[in-house]
Order: sequence, then structure tokens, then C-alpha cells
Amino acid sequence: MVAKVKKAKVRKTYKLAVIGGDGTGPEVVAEGLKVLQAAASRYGFGIATQDFDFGGERYLRTGEVLPETAVADLKQFDAIYLGAIGHPDVKPGILEKGILLRLRFDLDQYINLRPVKLLPGVECPLVGKGPEHIDYVVVRENTGDLYSGAGGFSMKGTPQEVAVQTAVYSRFQVERCLRYAFELVRRRHSAAAPWRGLTEADRKAGLIGKLTLCGKTNVLTYIYNLWERAYYEVAAEYPDIKTDYCHVDATCMWMVKNPEWFDVIVTGNLFGDIITDLGAITQGGMGIAAGGNINPAGVSMFEPIGGSAPKYTGLGVINPLAAICSGAMLLDELGETAAAQAIEKAVTFVTAKKLKSLAAGRMGYSTSQVGDLVVDNLA
Ligand code: IPM
Ligand code: MN
Repeated sequence: MVAKVKKAKVRKTYKLAVIGGDGTGPEVVAEGLKVLQAAASRYGFGIATQDFDFGGERYLRTGEVLPETAVADLKQFDAIYLGAIGHPDVKPGILEKGILLRLRFDLDQYINLRPVKLLPGVECPLVGKGPEHIDYVVVRENTGDLYSGAGGFSMKGTPQEVAVQTAVYSRFQVERCLRYAFELVRRRHSAAAPWRGLTEADRKAGLIGKLTLCGKTNVLTYIYNLWERAYYEVAAEYPDIKTDYCHVDATCMWMVKNPEWFDVIVTGNLFGDIITDLGAITQGGMGIAAGGNINPAGVSMFEPIGGSAPKYTGLGVINPLAAICSGAMLLDELGETAAAQAIEKAVTFVTAKKLKSLAAGRMGYSTSQVGDLVVDNLA
């Protein structure tokens, strides 16, 4: 049951491109849109959606991954809301590269923002850790690294075959990502909990937050040397932020052992991909992990991190909270901060008081009932 609320006057309408995509993508996006529309009417703005059928089904039907005009069309929107890409009948790589990575690159969504936050009521696989220990954000660079596509085969299919794939980073790519991450530390700390990852001495010294660079300077002595030099140069402009460096392998260890040490982590594309799956499982799994592909000056795209979960498609058992939380991130990026916070609060209430589990089929509610619960608890 959706409570009757007086609708505020619409001061602005945002244009949203919706790509439900494959598997359970459309189901979770439907719940996300339900919540976004409810938040919009309470906070005085409108959301006009247009659906795009990109995904595995379309590819199998037409042989085309993305239409010629897709990128230009999507540039006309305020944001993109994506469900999931990945189809069991399509060879791995085709849809991922042809849709997801293509849009990230061509729309220059150079930040992949992935909060790792354990909500109350959510079971955490880390012994002795609760919501007070797990609340940080990973800033994953989203355009370069081993994702650049540079590489190739020689003598393919012969016993002498050689494969090469190269990590690529420009100073420009690295620096804009680092600046975003430093600014994010400041933005987080204008909020309620200002001292994450800092010691008493740090606080006395006037530090407000911490940025950890996650790299592999001991082996990737070109790529992460560039990152490291750029990091300390940019850090000089942020004397209020504590600097910190961690190799990626050690980062994985601390994310499990001492997640409370982290505030914001910044890293390259591949390490960011890997450590955010680890982060997701520490916050309750793919049912809750949200993310945004952000171009701060362009069109950003928000998606739950979990995949298309083909085996659950159409059953109404999948958890839509990750999609709903991605929707909150979308509103935050559009500047609708109050509405975004209201959604986060409602989700927190639902995890703390309502759901039995975050796992598909064990929530105690159906996919659409979970969407309703969030709507009913929107302030
Ligand atoms: C992710 C995914 C993608 C990535 C795949 C599907 C290409 O794992 O969004 O984390 O590697 O970025
Ligand atoms: Mn991934």
C-alpha cells in the first residue's frame, strides 16, 4: 500500500534514459523507478523516462549490439539508469564490451563510484564488524588501464601463440580521477560523521578525512608510479586530507580485517573492479551494492553492481535494493540531495526492520513488495 501524500509543485523535470537490459535487470529497474517517481513527487521535481532495449535479446534478434545513434541519443538525457547487461546465450565479452564499456568510454564516464556501506540489519560475513566499521567509498577510474583494449595476438591458434594486453594511463586520466577523489573526501565530511579513518592525533592536526591510493608500485613500476607521483602532487593542494598508500593485495586484506581504516579509496580500473566485488560482499552482497559511472560534466549512468542473474529472471524474488540505491546516487548526482537522502533512509529502515535476508528468494518479500516498502517509508 502506497500512502497518499500531497504532491509538491513540479519545479523541474529530469529526462532519464532507462536501459533495463538483461535477466533481472528490468525487474529491479522497475522497482527503482517506482521509488524515484515517489521521491520526485515528494520533493517537487519530475522524472520523464524513455526506454532503450539494449541488451542480449536485442543483439540476438538484430545482430547489432548498439545502434549507430545510441551514444548521441543518450547524450540528450540528464542521466541513464541501467539494470544489467549479460545474457547466457551470448558469448562473454560481446555485450560487456559492446554496451557497458562502450557507453562508459564514449560518454567519458571516468569515475566509477562504488560505496561500500554496511546497513543495519544486514548480515556481514566479517566477524565482529558492524555498520560502524564498514562505510567507505571506492573511486574506481573507469576509462583506462587494462580496459583500454590495447593488445593483440600473434601466431594465434599455433603452439607459438603470443597474447599481449597493455595497461594504458595518461597523466590527464589519472589526475582528473585523483582530483574527484580528493573532492569527494571533502564532500563526505561536510556530512554527519566527519572523522572516518583518522586517529585522535590526525583530528587534532586538523585533518578531516583520508584518501587511500590503492596500487601496486612494487611491480607495476610505470603505471602506478605515474599514479603515485600524481597523487602526492595533487595531495599538496588538500592539506586537510590524510594521505595513505596501500598495495592492492594488502588493500584486500585490510578491507576484510580493518575496514574501518578506510574513508575513500582511489584506484585504477582493474584493481577497482576486483576490490569492489570484495567490498560488495562485506556489505551484504550483490543485492545491495550500488554504483555510478560518472562524468561530472556530462551524462552519468547508474547501475546495481550485481549482474543479470538469469536463473532468477521473472520469478520476482531478486532483491531490488541495489538498483534502488543506485537510483539514490543518480538523484544525488543530479543535485536532488534531499530526495537521495530520503531514499537512503527508507532503505536503511527496510534493511533494519523488515527484510529477513538480502538474498534472492529469502527476503521474506517479493521484488515489488520490497520496492513498495521503500516507497511507504519515504519521508
Ligand atoms: C563491473 C563489471 C564489468 C567491469 C564487466 C561486466 C565488463 O564487472 O561493472 O564491475 O569489469 O567493469
Ligand atoms: Mn566487476
